[in-house]
Amino acid sequence: VFAASNQPAPDQKIINVAHRGASGHAPEHTLLAYELGLEMKADYIEIDLQMTKDGVLIAMHDTTVNRTTNGTGSVSNMTLAEIKQLDAGSWFNTRNPEKAKDEFIGLEVPTLEEVFEKFGRSTNYYIETKSPNLYPGMETELLRLMDEYNLTGVNARSSKVIIQSFFTDSLILIHEMNPNVPLVQLLSRPTLGEGAAAELAFIKEYAIGVGPSFARINEEYVQQVRAEGLQIHPYTVNTEENMRRALEWGVNGVFTDYPDVFREVIKEF
Ligand code: G3P
Ligand code: CA
Repeated sequence: VFAASNQPAPDQKIINVAHRGASGHAPEHTLLAYELGLEMKADYIEIDLQMTKDGVLIAMHDTTVNRTTNGTGSVSNMTLAEIKQLDAGSWFNTRNPEKAKDEFIGLEVPTLEEVFEKFGRSTNYYIETKSPNLYPGMETELLRLMDEYNLTGVNARSSKVIIQSFFTDSLILIHEMNPNVPLVQLLSRPTLGEGAAAELAFIKEYAIGVGPSFARINEEYVQQVRAEGLQIHPYTVNTEENMRRALEWGVNGVFTDYPDVFREVIKEF
């Protein structure tokens, strides 16, 4: 079942992941934010997944629509038709008056299928299974859509998608269903120091890398991950200073709300 260690890395270059799209500039998880990320030459658009009451995967970070739309309620209690009526852009203008734009007003919550329809194989996707315990079948539906849109490669390197999760069970389930999909274990509290090796050895059984909180790692940890043969993509790195630090430590890429800034910093290395 476990064969991740035999998989080549999906990409050897340093990757620029547009976190929730170019979410420092536009409302997160809207098609416009993803488009902007690609205009800024991000290598991957990052998508958090939730699932509607009628079983449709949508791009949204939270389990409720409260923060990023003009509605209220849990995604799991709402149909897609209900969610499609919401305005997923105006909150950004209220929260960030200096970045507000009329074009953000009335933006829809996209389904994962709409994202695949729009961008196809023109980009790469870094997709997170959020709260998989709330949404049985989420992984099956994700792999089905990846196949339908021809985004699943014959090995990790040729896949257009990396799947990430904080939930190990979700990743192992995906690995069992399709061992060719590259997986990244997110770590909000990575084990540093002597304990790192055991944690990383376990992760290497099913994943090609780790996505730790940047605030909780150091250079030694990055070296330990690389020595284990795993990739490391910390989240969320938004200042030039932290981007330079991450690159000096030897990361393989970062999640950032500002792919335009990271693109410029990468050039220094
Ligand atoms: O997926 C990497 C990073 O996005 C994890 O944190 O809360 O932004 O999904 P969060
Ligand atoms: Ca995420």
